[in-house]
Amino acid sequence: MDEIKIFAPATVANISCGFDVLGCCLDAIGDEMIIRKSPAKGVKITKIIGENLPLETDKNVAGVAALALLDKLNFNENFGFEIEIYKNIKPGSGVGSSAASAAGVVFAINELLGKPFTKLELIEFAREGERLACGSPIADNVAPAIFGGFTLVKSTNPLKIIELPTLKGLYATIIHPQIEIKTEDSRSILPSKIELSEAVKQWANLGSLVHALHTNDYNLFSESLTDYIVEPYRSKLIPDFDKVKNNALQAGALGCGISGSGPSIFTFSKDKQIAKNVSVAISEVYKKIDVPFHIYITKINTQGIKIL
Ligand code: HSE
Repeated sequence: MDEIKIFAPATVANISCGFDVLGCCLDAIGDEMIIRKSPAKGVKITKIIGENLPLETDKNVAGVAALALLDKLNFNENFGFEIEIYKNIKPGSGVGSSAASAAGVVFAINELLGKPFTKLELIEFAREGERLACGSPIADNVAPAIFGGFTLVKSTNPLKIIELPTLKGLYATIIHPQIEIKTEDSRSILPSKIELSEAVKQWANLGSLVHALHTNDYNLFSESLTDYIVEPYRSKLIPDFDKVKNNALQAGALGCGISGSGPSIFTFSKDKQIAKNVSVAISEVYKKIDVPFHIYITKINTQGIKIL
């Protein structure tokens, strides 16, 4: 195989109670990428359609992730790689734009080379893209992009990822008000120390959410989707966040919170019809105050990156 075309999915990180550790993979939002072997050595980004992002390999998250993989192999063959990126996920939207590019490219090169690396190892390379994008090698977007479904980052050193089951029939509605929030900025407003009493509530929710996924318990899943620690700070950056959340819950959503570092807001619903009702209810909020937005209704993607 000399060329591969892939779908690199958007992801929701944190999921209210799991800051920096929990994430899930989406199905209806994602980038496409074509990666091919080229006679010229090295990694060259030949095309980026949809967004104005750097073509220089060492300034692009996909380029940096690809180089991390090839470095590990001490790659010295008579060929290199060309990358074409068709971006649908806006950078700074909170649904893992950089993670999709970084995870997508390492997945694709691994396929072209006959899979020398495991999925876990690919996450290590993709994290280098995240380091370039936001200053921290976070794994909670790249892990679900590569594994699919819900994932838990058990530890980053050594990297350990736990694949979690997905509630059957679960849908997400994601609303993206058209403002950009850089992950780095959104991280810089968070406190470095937190109240023990808040931490207790948060880790109780994280534990119960994981239990809910294992037991397919929608009520417990819903009750666990509260963020006592990060949302109070970050929600101030998002127009009418409280109203969106209120409308989502009124329309039957199981929960609602900030997707990753925002400004996108995720909601989960038991089925597609409720996800559609939620979509109407939360759109109203931004229509009223004239905030342009995009909205998506999507299943949970249990496969992760897909070969097209
Ligand atoms: N866990 C990261 C954060 C995800 O919330 O900063 C960034 O998308």
